Amino acid sequence: MKSNIILGVSASIAIYKACDITRRLKDEGCSVTVVQTPEATELIRPIVFESLSGNKAYRGLFEDASSWEIEHISLAAKADLVLIAPATANIIAKISAGIADDLLTCVILATKAPILICPAMNEGMYLNKITQANIDKLKKLGYKFVEPRKGRLACGQSGLGCLAEVEEIIKAAKKILAT
Ligand SMILES: Cc1cc2nc3c(=O)[nH]c(=O)nc-3n(C[C@H](O)[C@H](O)[C@H](O)COP(=O)(O)O)c2cc1C
Repeated sequence: MKSNIILGVSASIAIYKACDITRRLKDEGCSVTVVQTPEATELIRPIVFESLSGNKAYRGLFEDASSWEIEHISLAAKADLVLIAPATANIIAKISAGIADDLLTCVILATKAPILICPAMNEGMYLNKITQANIDKLKKLGYKFVEPRKGRLACGQSGLGCLAEVEEIIKAAKKILAT
């Protein structure tokens, strides 16, 4: 699968699994460019994703003032798939509302590539009617999802909202890229 994948990474405790996803996509022959939300860089620094992907990892809209390219537009245009894993309640809400206030949400709004969203959050946040309405709206608009599973959440309780297994996410990405 020789494809350009933008891996959007938001600030969920499941962020460590994005490292694995980066590596697995590379193993599949993809070029992976990670775009983190500014909040996600509080949990894992971009250098980790740069080492794993072999590509620059992006985070800010105004990060590279020396570049002549408008990054969110060039990244959006090069993508064959935008995969958001893990996706917080916040980023799902922002996508659903068309908000573009950081590099990742700008790329998401600008791209013509398919978008695959993998939610990861506390059960209360996931089952909240607002989150569910945002997800329903995005599904109706053609956004694809890999549903979260039940498991041990960051808060210590067990519930629905754990990021799907990495292999399931890779399988879903491959299916989209094959169509
Ligand atoms: C340690 C930690 C773990 C968090 N995990 C999650 C999570 O799994 N899912 C979620 O929706 N929000 C989680 N949050 C809250 C988000 O980080 C917060 O809503 C943030 O504003 C999201 O920003 P972003 O969507 O731009 O990355 C967590 C916060 C902290 C401090």
